[in-house]
Amino acid sequence: MSFESLRIPFAKHSIDQQDRQAVEDTLKSNWITRGPKVNLFEKALAKEVKAKDVICFSSASTALWAACQAIKLSSFDEVYAPTNTFIASASCAMNQRALLYLLDIDPLTGSLNFDLLETKLSHPLYRGRRVIIPVHFAGMALDMKRLSSLVSHRDIIIEDAAHALGSYYPSGEPVGCCDYSDMTVFSFHASKNITSGEGGAVSTNDELLASKLRLLRDSGIDRSSAEPGYYEVSHLSCNYHLNEMQAALGLSQLTKLRQMGAKRQSLIQEYRQNLNPSIQLLTSLESSATYHHLCTALINFDHLCFKRLALMSHLKSKGIGSQVHYVPLYKHPIIKNYKGWINRDLNNFSGTEQYYSQTLSLPLFHDLQNEQILEITQVLHQALKLS
Ligand SMILES: Cc1ncc(COP(=O)(O)O)c(C=O)c1O
Repeated sequence: MSFESLRIPFAKHSIDQQDRQAVEDTLKSNWITRGPKVNLFEKALAKEVKAKDVICFSSASTALWAACQAIKLSSFDEVYAPTNTFIASASCAMNQRALLYLLDIDPLTGSLNFDLLETKLSHPLYRGRRVIIPVHFAGMALDMKRLSSLVSHRDIIIEDAAHALGSYYPSGEPVGCCDYSDMTVFSFHASKNITSGEGGAVSTNDELLASKLRLLRDSGIDRSSAEPGYYEVSHLSCNYHLNEMQAALGLSQLTKLRQMGAKRQSLIQEYRQNLNPSIQLLTSLESSATYHHLCTALINFDHLCFKRLALMSHLKSKGIGSQVHYVPLYKHPIIKNYKGWINRDLNNFSGTEQYYSQTLSLPLFHDLQNEQILEITQVLHQALKLS
């Protein structure tokens, strides 16, 4: 692993005195794990996203795995996930041996193509259930009201909102309210909208799912026995707990969610004002409903002197970080070798291929300065010979 530091990294956490104090106070308290802070963080998150319940996990990845375990996903079920996402959106299904159907994306949004999903969902499934894992890429909330109208009562929706705490659906509700899904998963990794170092959570309005998720988080232990000291392990699972210092940090960060979201809005605006019109930002819609997790640009490298790899190296030589979100899932050996992957014809991924050839994520984080954005865009324009 490389710990090299760039002058302007691609992403960076923002920790202030309030955050540091919260962690220090917890370290001095009687609980450093499985105590009151996790509980408080869950309640505060539930209030924020307007869901009945929130269950914290050690990461969004473990939360997604637990969500799939909670619905007893099996090899008869079909799971639909977009191609443009992090592996955890699909590995949670693969872990349960489910059938995996990858959905092509809209090249202009990087998010799943609704028309293709609608066509797919219009065909009946004769065996098993359909589980949809929509991803709110870069913080841009999908139209979940529309998505939920396409599914039947047997279908299950698990939203991957790792990028989207603080965003709102086009219908106005906060992402994670679960009005249109069974569960929603968030990430608190250091680069995410708020951080607890590492961490994740599931929101749900379903009491049964909530209690199942708590049990799965706790190594599958059923503690409902009235007999003191006695417990039974009823599910095969693992220790997925978030600790108290992480929860204290998450709680403190959550109080600044709106303020941090507004700052990111203004940074995106600054990028938009400085970027050459030939470089389109993915998040081109002016919307206060989006908590911008990423600043992803679409650059048509076909006619440019620099290719993406060379451009990224050039930016790095100037101390500026950049990233690609994402290498399409179907390019990873773990997916290619997965026997349960059912739509293998690569001709069906033209939207993804177009998007992947053009995408480049530029630095975006709370403490980024407008002067740094000016510098980033100038370096970019000079390299690409754009005025
Ligand atoms: C879309 C998406 N889903 C899930 C995850 C997994 O999050 P975590 O790092 O908290 O496990 C990530 C992480 O970057 C992600 O980008």
